[in-house]
Amino acid sequence: MPPSFNQTVSAQELRRRVLALAEPADQALKDTLKSHVPYIEQVSGYIIFSGGKRLRPVLYLLAAAAAGSQGQGRHAAIFEYLHAATLLHDDVVDEAGLRRGRPAARTRYGNDAVILVGDFLFSKSYSLATEVADHRFVTALTDCTTLMAEGQVLELLFTGDYELAEADYRRVIQAKTAVLIAASCQMGAIFAGADEQLVESFYAYGMELGMAFQMVDDALDYVGTEHEFGKPVGHDLGEGKITLPFIFARDNRDSAERARLLELAAAAPTDAQAQAEAKELVRRAGGVDYTFAQAKAHALAAQEALAALIPPDGPGEHLETLLALAPYVVERRS
Ligand code: IPE
Ligand code: IPE
Ligand code: MG
Ligand code: MG
Ligand code: MG
Repeated sequence: MPPSFNQTVSAQELRRRVLALAEPADQALKDTLKSHVPYIEQVSGYIIFSGGKRLRPVLYLLAAAAAGSQGQGRHAAIFEYLHAATLLHDDVVDEAGLRRGRPAARTRYGNDAVILVGDFLFSKSYSLATEVADHRFVTALTDCTTLMAEGQVLELLFTGDYELAEADYRRVIQAKTAVLIAASCQMGAIFAGADEQLVESFYAYGMELGMAFQMVDDALDYVGTEHEFGKPVGHDLGEGKITLPFIFARDNRDSAERARLLELAAAAPTDAQAQAEAKELVRRAGGVDYTFAQAKAHALAAQEALAALIPPDGPGEHLETLLALAPYVVERRS
């Protein structure tokens, strides 16, 4: 029997806990999003208050609490600022028109404005991080953003590379997505004054969760609905972005089908019919199922990274919520 999640929190209770933690982060975003240039507040506000899941700030607060200290919403906001900056830039690179169920900021304000405002949000996150005296805090943030920038550039370099290896795909998603989720958890533990070993455990948890998170994102690009996902579906292949569903299908078909898939993929950016056929082939070849299975394996590894921290009398609410987020990340559809 395949391994299954140890799930002790109902979906409704998980949602309640996450919303309660997102609240102080939201408040801090409202309090700190100030600029001498009102236009910056307008563009930033458009993306930041548009209904994101607030996963990264919530993880920060949970890790801090699980490591023994109540984190502050102000510092949780660091992760949403960074996330929003990467989304603004990502939608430019991906030429995406929809984000969180409404027109992407770039379609409203233009690419130039959102690139510049993204830089402002990066800076905002750093200025909040300098408030924490532990030097490990800012170091963790700079390590994170350096890796993220590398990941996004790597992805750009691999665009249109239909032979992209699974190992390179993993390298890209680890850097562009998992590293920020890992840093949110790591920095929560650092804020709580945790020792290196404990900080490492939270980092490992976040990294595995982040890998699962991006794999599910990439699977949903093949099978999700725009209505639930709130962003374009089927967009990746059309942009020449090669992700795990495609890679698995490509490497697990006979040579004729493989050749056909490569041909369709190459045509996908300009030919909607070819794109639809390629997606269908990927799904039939089990690429999406494989991607969900891999995501589940990473989510289980995330739970495993925290297993040693569970005391004999049970995990306590915060650790329990972190554990419960693992299956949520695999099952999410938005
Ligand atoms: C989207 O992240 C970008 C990825 C890393 C896939 P989220 O799915 O967390 O986006 P929001 O913040 O909830 O909109
Ligand atoms: C996530 O990749 C990129 C970031 C880390 C911002 P995607 O390009 O797949 O993200 P979405 O699907 O547009 O949110
Ligand atoms: Mg994108
Ligand atoms: Mg992208
Ligand atoms: Mg995506």
